[in-house]
Amino acid sequence: MRYSFSERLMHSSAAVTYVYLLLTGLAFWSPAFYWIATVLGGGFLARAMHPWVGVVFATVATWMLVKWSLVMRTTAEDREWRKAMWHYIRNEDDRVPKQSGRFNFGQKMQFWVMTISAFILLLSGLVLWFPQSIPGSAAVVREIAILVHVVTALVTIGAFIIHVYMGVVVVPNGQAIVIGGSTEDRAAASR
Ligand code: HEM
Repeated sequence: MRYSFSERLMHSSAAVTYVYLLLTGLAFWSPAFYWIATVLGGGFLARAMHPWVGVVFATVATWMLVKWSLVMRTTAEDREWRKAMWHYIRNEDDRVPKQSGRFNFGQKMQFWVMTISAFILLLSGLVLWFPQSIPGSAAVVREIAILVHVVTALVTIGAFIIHVYMGVVVVPNGQAIVIGGSTEDRAAASR
């Protein structure tokens, strides 16, 4: 079994909450995307739910950090892989060192980008959620929080696109592993 039930629950909770935050965040960000809020129950509901779902997302990110931080540490093997990354990009697989740990270097980078971003989004989101708690003399903090929130959201969108592409297109049976826990499960389910 590649992923335990609790790991799959953790991953799907992160995915569902992240996608909701992404869609509602895009709706707040630009009028061009406001229709998304309408599809998701209206602007009022989206605005009321976004910060609370954000708290759930950050809680799941903390759960992931506790569960996976040790296996996500960069090893000497990862450093060798990183040096050969250019060969990986050029599909010269025979020149790329094999990785034996549970997660490869790319997956580890994905984990750290998303986890660190989740906490930055939470902190900047709290300022946007309770703007009145910032004194008028420090109004610049609110402006910085908006910028940080949006830039971090954009970073996660880039990471998320790569993550979904790797999981759906590149890793064989990626969806079966993430949903069922292992590729064998899929074969068992189809019998
Ligand atoms: C993690 C906890 C999070 C909290 C507490 C939070 C909270 C908030 C709040 C209060 C707003 C202000 C809405 C308004 O304009 O009145 C906001 C806006 C926004 N959020 Fe979040 N958010 C979180 C996570 C995320 C995530 C994960 C994304 C996207 C991947 C995201 C994307 C956005 C965007 C794009 C905006 C619009 C900013 C603007 O007005 O230009 N947020 N968020």
